[in-house]
Amino acid sequence: MKPEIFHTSSFVSDAVALIVGEAEKAIAARGVFRIALSGGNTPRPVYEVLAKRDLPWSRWEITFGDERCVPPDDAQSNFRMAKNAWFEPAKIPAANILRMEGELEPAAAAEKYESALLEKSSPYGHDLILLGMGDDGHTASLFPGTNALDVQDRLVVANYVPKFSAHRLTFTYPLLNVARHVCFLVSSIGKEAVLQEVLAGNQNYPSARVAPVDGHITWLLGGGA
Ligand code: 6PG
Repeated sequence: MKPEIFHTSSFVSDAVALIVGEAEKAIAARGVFRIALSGGNTPRPVYEVLAKRDLPWSRWEITFGDERCVPPDDAQSNFRMAKNAWFEPAKIPAANILRMEGELEPAAAAEKYESALLEKSSPYGHDLILLGMGDDGHTASLFPGTNALDVQDRLVVANYVPKFSAHRLTFTYPLLNVARHVCFLVSSIGKEAVLQEVLAGNQNYPSARVAPVDGHITWLLGGGA
């Protein structure tokens, strides 16, 4: 199915509406809404607005598409960003949040996370995966030229990223591509050229290789992107 592309001047409210709409559909159909969060800067205002909504959080199962290999209170932590922007203000129960333990040895943390997902459901299919895109076309922590791009027999791996001289924890394509819906949230200016390449299907860019088998992709583009 071709990706749906929306250029919007109301990026945050459109993103919140999309997420809430998917949650209502999933909860009505299956009693639970499985959503994976993206990190970085773009989603923060979306999470802050979500936190103000009165939603059935106990029906939400929140996972993370990737995480830096740092403790949860580190400024680099994607969990910390979401906790400060959303989880704490909305008082979301800890039982509804599956945190990637960035403080653990990376390979062990990835294996532990993959097992935790499979204990909940096997296969584990997200209703919605939020993804960002970097200016090199990476998504989650699937960076160009890194080993995780070729992994087909794991759902979550530790991925060494030379540009950071550090490991990251990340979903792999097998997990991304069993999602019902993947939504790229891209708002930062300066990614226009890469975005065009990705939307044209240039497989040199990891974002272009996200291809849900039975799901669909939405691109929500704001901020001049
Ligand atoms: C991360 C993200 C990463 C992010 C992109 C875009 O851990 O950094 O998961 O994939 O989504 O790098 O980041 P910005 O939203 O900050 O541009």
